[in-house]
Amino acid sequence: MKRFALPAILVASWTGLAHAESAPILYMLHCQGCHLADGSGKPGSVPSLVDSIGRFVRVPGGREYLVRVPGSSQSPLSDEDLARVLNYMIRSFGPADVASDFQPFDAEEVARVRRPPLSETESVRRALLSAMEAR
Ligand code: HEC
Repeated sequence: MKRFALPAILVASWTGLAHAESAPILYMLHCQGCHLADGSGKPGSVPSLVDSIGRFVRVPGGREYLVRVPGSSQSPLSDEDLARVLNYMIRSFGPADVASDFQPFDAEEVARVRRPPLSETESVRRALLSAMEAR
């Protein structure tokens, strides 16, 4: 019995990687370099996702912002994978802020708003943050 366990695990993980990589792995490969494993970012250059990413989805324009920031929009991820990674990030880093009626991103929404990437993120981000404060 024992002899077969390891190959079975290897095959399962290999086929898993070959087809659909899990959202945490996609995050690790494509986003974590800047956003860090715990979403805390780099003070002064990469904003923390912790306790704020979930708040963006509550204000008008916020969903679009999350898809159109260059890190999202210009990533090599397919629309479907980008949707999965964003859902993962929201659930992992901002769970307390996610409204109970949160509609997860899907490939269709990502495809519709993804391009062009935002060229000016700073002012858009600031406007969204003040919209959150005003709520
Ligand atoms: C080269 C560094 C870098 C990488 C890699 C990166 N990002 Fe970002 N990300 C940023 C910066 C900087 C910001 C702040 C907005 C801006 O100026 O683009 C940001 C902002 C964001 C935001 C909005 C959060 C906020 O509080 O403004 C989201 C969502 C996001 N990134 C998603 C992603 C995803 C998804 C990936 C991986 C597919 C990714 N990023 C990879 C640097 C990066």
